[in-house]
Amino acid sequence: MKLNIALLAGDGIGPEVIDQAVKVSDAIATKFGHELNWKPALTGAAAIDAVGEPYPDETHEICKSSDAVLFGAIGDPKYDNDPTAKVRPEQGLLKMRKALGLFANVRPTFVFPSLLDKSPLKQERIEGTDLVFLRELTGGIYFGEKGRKDGGDTAFDNCLYTKEEVTRLARKGFELAMTRSKRLCCVDKANVLETSRLWRETVQGLESEYPEVEVSYEFVDAVAMRLVQWPSSYDVLITENLFGDILTDEASVISGSMGLMPSASVGAETSLYEPIHGSYPQAAGKDIANPLATVLSAAMMFEDAFGLKEEAEAIRTVVNKSLAEGVVTEDLAAGNKAYKTSEIGDWLATNV
Ligand code: IPM
Ligand code: MN
Repeated sequence: MKLNIALLAGDGIGPEVIDQAVKVSDAIATKFGHELNWKPALTGAAAIDAVGEPYPDETHEICKSSDAVLFGAIGDPKYDNDPTAKVRPEQGLLKMRKALGLFANVRPTFVFPSLLDKSPLKQERIEGTDLVFLRELTGGIYFGEKGRKDGGDTAFDNCLYTKEEVTRLARKGFELAMTRSKRLCCVDKANVLETSRLWRETVQGLESEYPEVEVSYEFVDAVAMRLVQWPSSYDVLITENLFGDILTDEASVISGSMGLMPSASVGAETSLYEPIHGSYPQAAGKDIANPLATVLSAAMMFEDAFGLKEEAEAIRTVVNKSLAEGVVTEDLAAGNKAYKTSEIGDWLATNV
């Protein structure tokens, strides 16, 4: 296949981890006879520095006309401590999600057999964990009306959802559950929030269309607790934007490092693939960040965006092999030899 991939490295460790995903993807392309045409484009603080805005039109055109987008990370501490900054790198990510219609964020949490002892949770609690969050990505409090009043001393962020937004996300959840263990958990705060009551009512209304799926409804606070007590009890979870943001960070470290979990954002057109972790500015330029979340995001891209399952499996196999052989970055090295980010990429590409 001939494939065009928009390459948005972004900020912090983004460029370093993206480089490794490109190496591995190119090795896969050579092995399976595909032609990958990478199209680099600016985003985040890097784009603000270069052209004054975090998601330039030119980047959007490149994303829209590509078969998929591979994304690194966004964010730069120089903006975090300046609440008055008019343009922020994160706005680029939000604009991109909206402009590309990426309404569903697929964030899996699974464990690697060779890393069970690296988890912050006890081994017997995490064995068998294999869950997927579907986080709504273009609505809710992130995109509601926000502002200040009373001369600036009162602030508000409006949380708004339409039935249509909930329905399209929930349908994806039901469909995903059908391909897995047919269990779906709707995470909300329906005891307090009106938007959550709309979520619950909408999901309940869809239940009859998917009679095989067993649906549970749980409050977000209880899910936050059960995720660390009994993560393997969950399968597919659907939730709104902010709850999903928080819970998927919590879930992402269960596997042993925040550098391991991939994600996909899907919607109407081009899908986007990115690691769950952020830009990790403290490590930027040091060649120490774990590139596996990005490499595994490329695997998701091969499978879901291009329908190339065998290629995706080949990536996952070589990643598992590296972990089993202790070819790991410092976050997983535990006193043993720590490989550099670029060395991991080289090792994976060679072993493909
Ligand atoms: C994420 C990030 C973003 C979000 C930020 C950078 C805007 O935390 O992708 O989870 O909150 O959605
Ligand atoms: Mn987040």
